[in-house]
This record gives sequence, structure tokens and C-alpha cells, in this order.
Amino acid sequence: MPFQPPLPSEYAAQSRDDIIARIQRHKNSFGPSLVVLGHHYQEDDVIRFADFTGDSLKLSQIAARQKHARYVVFCGVHFMAESADILTGDDVAVILPDLSAGCSMADMAHIDQLEDAWDFLTAATDATIVPITYVNSSADVKAFCGRHGGACCTSSNARLILEWALDRGQKAIFLPDQHLGRNTACAMGHALDSMVLYDPKQRDGGLSAQSVRDSTFILWKGHCSVHGLFTTANCDEIRGLDPAFNILVHPECSREVVQRSDYAGSTEYIIKTVGDAPPGTKWAIGTEIHLVTRLAAAHPDKTVRSLAGIQCLCTTMYRIDIKHLLYVLDQLAAGRVVNRITVPPDVKRDAVLALDRMLANAAPQPASVD
Ligand code: 13P
Ligand code: SF4
Repeated sequence: MPFQPPLPSEYAAQSRDDIIARIQRHKNSFGPSLVVLGHHYQEDDVIRFADFTGDSLKLSQIAARQKHARYVVFCGVHFMAESADILTGDDVAVILPDLSAGCSMADMAHIDQLEDAWDFLTAATDATIVPITYVNSSADVKAFCGRHGGACCTSSNARLILEWALDRGQKAIFLPDQHLGRNTACAMGHALDSMVLYDPKQRDGGLSAQSVRDSTFILWKGHCSVHGLFTTANCDEIRGLDPAFNILVHPECSREVVQRSDYAGSTEYIIKTVGDAPPGTKWAIGTEIHLVTRLAAAHPDKTVRSLAGIQCLCTTMYRIDIKHLLYVLDQLAAGRVVNRITVPPDVKRDAVLALDRMLANAAPQPASVD
């Protein structure tokens, strides 16, 4: 992860109101040459400046449309800014306000580990294996999938992409999120015994060649540290508290949690499900706390709470704050592009194949602020 130097001390001294006013002035003066994108897990103070909000898929689609912007400031995490750089032209500078805003899941699949896995898996079987990476991965991993006939997916279109993969080969390797892979394959009607777990920390992933030959899905042993916090005990507690609660979770939660829930789906699915629900309904939601809090505020006629008693917060998303946003905009106003995320051209060339296949297998999303 790139190093984020501490901000100059003047930023610590400024009041929240001053910071907000200064960011707004920058936005007014840059006009349409500046586009701010905000992932739903960002805090409200950041989201208020987003020209577009969305989940990973929607923000990728919106980034791909930014042909006229000069600067895209991505309020999200590193892999999202990399995807935006891959999908925009070279004349668009993609900026991540805090360079240390990474993703622990993306860090669980290093390109060298994937190369080793591929050598082992392709030696173990003559079947065609299609590599599918969740978009929560490095540009190098995306490029590998693009080069080897595979694709990226998000939680919104994982099923479509895995179906696409099995039209092209007999097996799919899915990385880095074992849970999204397992939940999606189960939703497609596949049995758990058609899946094996590849552990990149073990020799040959801890698998035998025979188990690879017998499998349809090779799931990478990675997970989201935020969604991994939700447990079946949380589900049981909510049911005990009030059986009227609907349990709605993100598919990065474990299989057991998804099985105990009433509904599971991507961030946009969660937002739509709560939005479409009748007044008076009760929702316990298994996803990042900033989104849950925003949904509760947006729907005062419904009861919306976190599935867990503890705060399930994505600490890396949270590194993006209004001070860092102001800092990058101050620098831009002074003619300096800082915190630019640039994917090398050779990586971009292959990664765009994987991202384009992802976008080709997704429903269009509205390009408005939610
Ligand atoms: P989506 O934005 O695809 O729902 O994924 C959630 C997430 O964990 C983003 O990092
Ligand atoms: Fe990564 Fe999970 Fe945070 Fe998303 S919520 S950025 S997958 S750690």
C-alpha cells in the first residue's frame, strides 16, 4: 500500500465548518472538470460532496462514463480508484484522498500467489479453468484474469459472471472472497462438495490434484474483515429479540450467516430492499455501519439497525475524511495533482479486458446521486 504522509498541521487546526465551506468553494470553482465519487460505506460528511454515490459496480460504470472530467476524486478504497483509472482515459487523473485507504480482502490475493496457484491448478487438470476475480483485488490480479480469458465481478453481478465462466470452461477459480464465491455458487444450485478451498499460505493451496479434478469451483481463502464479523449468534439474538425483524445481509458474510438470513445481496440490493419495504417493517442489516446508519436516517418510518451489537466499520474506507478531501483539492487548486492512482499501461491493457467483461454482464445503473 502506498505511504500517506501526515497532512500539514494547518488541517488539524481547522474547524469542521471551515473545512466543509472550503471544499464546497473548490467544487464550485472546478465545476464539471471535477467529479467526486463516493462509495456507500463512506461517512456522511464525505458523502455530502459526492457527485455520484454507489456500490462498486455502479461506481465503476459511472467512472467509465467520465470522458470530460479532468479529475476524478475517488472517496472509496485503493482498488476502486485503480479500476477508475483503468476505465477512464489517460487525460483523467484519478485521485484517492488518503493513499492508505486499502482493502484487507484485496491484500489477501497477491499476484505471485495467483501465479503459483495457476501453475498448480493447470498442471492438476486438463479441464479449462476460468479465473474470476471479485473487483476487490489489485490491478495485477485483474490483469491476470483478463489475460487468461477470465473476468472481474462485483457482488451485484457475481452470479452472471460465474454463469458466463462456466459457459466457457469446466471450472472457475474465484478470488479473493471465498464467501461471495460460495454463496453465489450455492445460489446457482451447486452443492458444497463441488467447491474446494485454495489456501494461498499452504503449498499447492493445501489441495490434492484429485480434489481439483473433482471440483467445479476453486474458492480462494480470502474474506472481508468487516462482513466476517457477523455471526449466526447475531441472527439468533435478533430472532429472539423480535421475530418481526427481517435479516438482510451482504454476500461477503459467511454461508452460515447467509443461510440464517431472510435476504442476501449487494449494497445496491440492500438499499433497494429497505427502500421498497412497507412502513413499519423491521430490518437487521449485516453490512458496513455507515450505510446502515444512513439507511436508518433515510427511513424513519421503518426500524433499521445493524445485525451485530458491535460497530462493523470498514476502517480503511474510514481513512477518507473531509480533511484529506480538502487537502487534495487545495493541492489541485494550486496546480498540483497529489495522490494520483496510476496503473501501468501493460497492466491496464489486460485488466481492462476483465473489467469490460464485468461491465458487459451487468444491468445499467442510473447515473444520478441516490
Ligand atoms: P459492493 O460495493 O460491491 O456491494 O461491495 C461491498 C464492499 O465490500 C466494497 O468494498
Ligand atoms: Fe475491503 Fe471489506 Fe472494507 Fe469492502 S468492506 S473495502 S471488502 S475490507
